Amino acid sequence: MPTITEGNPTTISLELKNDHYTVLVGSALLKNTAALIAEKTSIPSKKAAVVTDSTVGPLYAETVVSALNEAGIETCLITVPAGEASKSMEQATEICREMLRAGLDRKSFLVALGGGVVGDLAGFAAAIFQRGIPCVQIPTTIVSQVDSSVGGKTGVNTPEGKNLVGAFHQPQLVLADVDTLASLPEREFNEGFAEIIKHAGIRDATLLDLVEKKESIREHLIELVSRNVAIKARVVEEDEKETSGTRALLNFGHTIGHGIEAAGGYGRFLHGEAISLGLVAAIRLSVELSDLSETDGNQLIAALSNYGLPTVLDNDISDEAILNAMQRDKKFEGGAIRFVLLNQLGSAFVSSDVTSNHLSAAIAGLRSA
Ligand code: NAD
Ligand code: GLY
Repeated sequence: MPTITEGNPTTISLELKNDHYTVLVGSALLKNTAALIAEKTSIPSKKAAVVTDSTVGPLYAETVVSALNEAGIETCLITVPAGEASKSMEQATEICREMLRAGLDRKSFLVALGGGVVGDLAGFAAAIFQRGIPCVQIPTTIVSQVDSSVGGKTGVNTPEGKNLVGAFHQPQLVLADVDTLASLPEREFNEGFAEIIKHAGIRDATLLDLVEKKESIREHLIELVSRNVAIKARVVEEDEKETSGTRALLNFGHTIGHGIEAAGGYGRFLHGEAISLGLVAAIRLSVELSDLSETDGNQLIAALSNYGLPTVLDNDISDEAILNAMQRDKKFEGGAIRFVLLNQLGSAFVSSDVTSNHLSAAIAGLRSA
């Protein structure tokens, strides 16, 4: 079980087989980046790369770079274009080359400052640079604070599919500063609720009580992010490398969701929006094939709608495009489908009873409310 100490910041400690690290969730953390690294990690280096994107960099990089420089850490700032297209092998190579040109070596460390795209991409660069250097994650979106910065999954997309090249590389520290969420546009803020509602569905139905306080949710961000980090941390502690099946439960809604995201060309939907549609399909399949009640299923779908997330799929994205993209997904093992269903609110399992006919029907069902 992760250790949780509430406050500002709230501290969540993960204990893994060969690793342990801290996630701090609070406000005004960025300006204390160097002090927190010194306090919470054993990273000895005086040389770092801060990797960010073209939207987050102008907002927050100076605070982080200044904090590191003031602590005597020489820092090179690397900025990639904002957006999913940057999560590529080419961009990971370019980051590694920039770090080499800046004189970083295997004793250096990397700070990933941004949303899930920067976290996955820069985390992957940290995993492969000189066979692996320490990484500090500073997530700046809801998705990255509640999900992607914790657990060590890093990677890039290829034309063949999403996240198909990557590495497990646990961060040494995660600084989730909720102040950064104030600059997130509403659409990007809301998309994060797909992963939050997923967490409620698979592990903690009581989280819905907090999620449903939409009007005042910004007053509860430390609690919201910490509770989600605790859920994710617990799953990762139980099954770090996704071998026992527990971590696979985090893929609830992602099989069809990733298919929709790819079929939309990675530009049409934000990640959380595609996952919202995948969740709706998986919720309906859980009602049809498992013991989830229709009322509980509808409560989850209403929570998605409440945050403006899509629950109905436009007709111009074909079933074929979605199904083709799904075939390339890692969750299809040797052609068999490992599909996550809910048996009740807060409880999920991996089913092998979901057929491709069920998937086609579930996608068709998304086209009407
Ligand atoms: P993102 O990183 O693309 O961020 C969304 C947009 O918000 C970007 O344009 C970004 O520049 C901007 N932005 C980020 N922080 C901001 C801020 N504080 N203020 C203003 N703008 C800001 O997308 P995301 O939703 O954070 O992450 C999605 C990615 O995360 C996907 O690639 C997905 O596959 C990945 N992911 C990974 C895991 C994992 O376990 N590794 C889990 C979930 C999602
Ligand atoms: N986001 C899925 C996982 O971390 O396993």
